[in-house]
Amino acid sequence: MISQLPYKTYKIFAIIIALCVSYILVSFFLGDTADTLWPQQQLHFLRSGIRDGALDHIFNTTLGFEHIYAIGLKERTDKRDFLTVSASVSGFEVEWLDGVRPQELQQKALPKGYNLSLTEPNAIGCWRAHMNALNNVLLNSYSTALILEDDADWDVNIKSQLREFARGLHSLKGNSKPSKQAPYGTDWDLLWIGGCASGPDTNETQYYAIPDDPTVPSVQHRGTWSGPLDSWKAIFPEDSTRFVYRAREGCCTYGYAVTKRGARKILTALAIDHIDAPVDNAMSELCGGLGDRQRIECFAPFPNLIGTYRQAGPAYKDSDINNGDQTIHEEISYNMVYSTRCNIHRLISDEETVFSQWGNDSSWSPGEIRPKEFVYPRGYLIN
Ligand SMILES: *[C@@H]1O[C@H](CO)[C@@H](O)[C@H](O)[C@H]1NC(C)=O
Ligand SMILES: *[C@@H]1O[C@H](CO)[C@@H](O)[C@H](O)[C@H]1NC(C)=O
Ligand SMILES: *[C@@H]1O[C@H](CO)[C@@H](O)[C@H](O)[C@H]1NC(C)=O
Ligand SMILES: *[C@@H]1O[C@H](CO)[C@@H](O)[C@H](O)[C@H]1NC(C)=O
Repeated sequence: MISQLPYKTYKIFAIIIALCVSYILVSFFLGDTADTLWPQQQLHFLRSGIRDGALDHIFNTTLGFEHIYAIGLKERTDKRDFLTVSASVSGFEVEWLDGVRPQELQQKALPKGYNLSLTEPNAIGCWRAHMNALNNVLLNSYSTALILEDDADWDVNIKSQLREFARGLHSLKGNSKPSKQAPYGTDWDLLWIGGCASGPDTNETQYYAIPDDPTVPSVQHRGTWSGPLDSWKAIFPEDSTRFVYRAREGCCTYGYAVTKRGARKILTALAIDHIDAPVDNAMSELCGGLGDRQRIECFAPFPNLIGTYRQAGPAYKDSDINNGDQTIHEEISYNMVYSTRCNIHRLISDEETVFSQWGNDSSWSPGEIRPKEFVYPRGYLIN
């Protein structure tokens, strides 16, 4: 259109547009607008300049980590089948590590202070299985590894979510040039990507915000948040915002990544030394540097990106200790919107759309999306 206008008219238009744009920019940065929008201290919103290409390897079959382990009891073939198929439709592969039964453990093999007869049996088996996973990371000298539990579930858009998470991570670390061979970097100890919930320091002012994220579940369908809610919420009041931050705490170990450095530190603190708590709480204490413990470097998204899945049916099937609980429950995937497992039948038959397990309950998540056309939103570093 513009190219068909006489040159003079075009020039006038261009000048008017330029003036308008400068006016808006000047009043935005110098005028009252900024104060009204951001009443806090001086905030800096930064868009990461990291291109998708630099993070390509996140789309490979180990999600950009060097390896992926999944932990599960050998005899829970039902859980192994479901996780393997779910990972396959999502384009990644796991190596199975056997879960540990408490009766396989000897008192003398436990760290000092760990009393087999005082600890809840399930908790001690779980602790040992995670220690074995960390052990394997070191034995194989992996620079990074993701560790999943056998009930883990994730959004069908996991790869795009992880790419933006990585961008957040690099922004928080001040790294503008990630190596293609290490799309998450290796200068951290733990990425608490999947769990029940996580939280930053209550005085934390630096974070990465991804507003209007359709894969964020509504408040009633997600874990509770223990972050510095008020100051961050003042800037991002919408419940559809996902945050990425330096984590002070976390819980549940559905899916987390470690570096070699992290595996060494956690294995030392939890297996050579001892923290008298279930494995997730113990790792959380390390992230917070509680007591006289050396703080390890943890990062997490809220809401989490990896949740846990329960098939419709009796409750006793969920747990690895058969307690005969016959309560029947519906299918549910905690913290997820477009759950891979809830959509498994559509995904294996190459259907074009997937469903939100919550239907149309939140205004920012359509009840149905086309993953091939889905564009995951970009975030900002807030400093
Ligand atoms: C473990 O606790 C039990 C019960 O309190 C006690 O009898 C036992 O001596 C403890 N074992 C160790 C190795 O501390
Ligand atoms: C995926 O990418 C990461 C990061 O470059 C790399 O360490 C890993 O070996 C790759 N996985 C596969 C299966 O190629
Ligand atoms: C938050 O407080 C802790 C001490 O309670 C301090 O070490 C840390 O530097 C503070 N962080 C920020 C971002 O102010
Ligand atoms: C969501 O709302 C749209 C439009 O009202 C409707 O067509 C669709 O069937 C709804 N989806 C679900 C899962 O309820």
